[in-house]
Amino acid sequence: MRRIVAIYPGSFDPITNGHLDIVQRAVRLFDELIVAVLVNSDKAPLFSAQERVDMIRTILQQEALSARVDTFEGLLVTYAKKQKAQVIVRGIRAISDYEYELQMALMNRRLGPAIETVFMMPSEAYSYLSSRLVREVFKFGGSIEGLVPSLVEQQLRAKLGK
Ligand code: PNS
Repeated sequence: MRRIVAIYPGSFDPITNGHLDIVQRAVRLFDELIVAVLVNSDKAPLFSAQERVDMIRTILQQEALSARVDTFEGLLVTYAKKQKAQVIVRGIRAISDYEYELQMALMNRRLGPAIETVFMMPSEAYSYLSSRLVREVFKFGGSIEGLVPSLVEQQLRAKLGK
């Protein structure tokens, strides 16, 4: 029997309800989903890779979503091959995401022709949501209620002392 393993990669700094929405949709489609947190990107993250992994694991457990959570370094396609994944899942919120995502998908296809990128749309309620905006709004005292799981809000409070 053919099992489809999908990887949902990202920075997840921190995970938002938009990411979670994609996880919820992807676990219904694929036999196995791996949420893969990028470590050592050029961006200096707010949360360490371990903190992000721990947060995501707890949240997925709370939401009864059965996905594996892992980290990866270097090329995504190399990691996907190691995991014997056939699919890379990426969320697209708006047309503005498409250009960059298309570039990445085509580069990943060149590097690993057997791996297919699947674009998924989160609920329109999250179409403007990003980890960067969550960090910024929280930092300056704005409400992020309903935009991130409550654990993320707690962790932001602990990290930024708000
Ligand atoms: O959540 P993000 O920051 O939009 O995720 C971007 C991510 C992690 C998917 C992307 O930066 C990535 O895959 N990086 C790994 C390096 C790599 O494979 N680069 C070539 C892809 S074109």
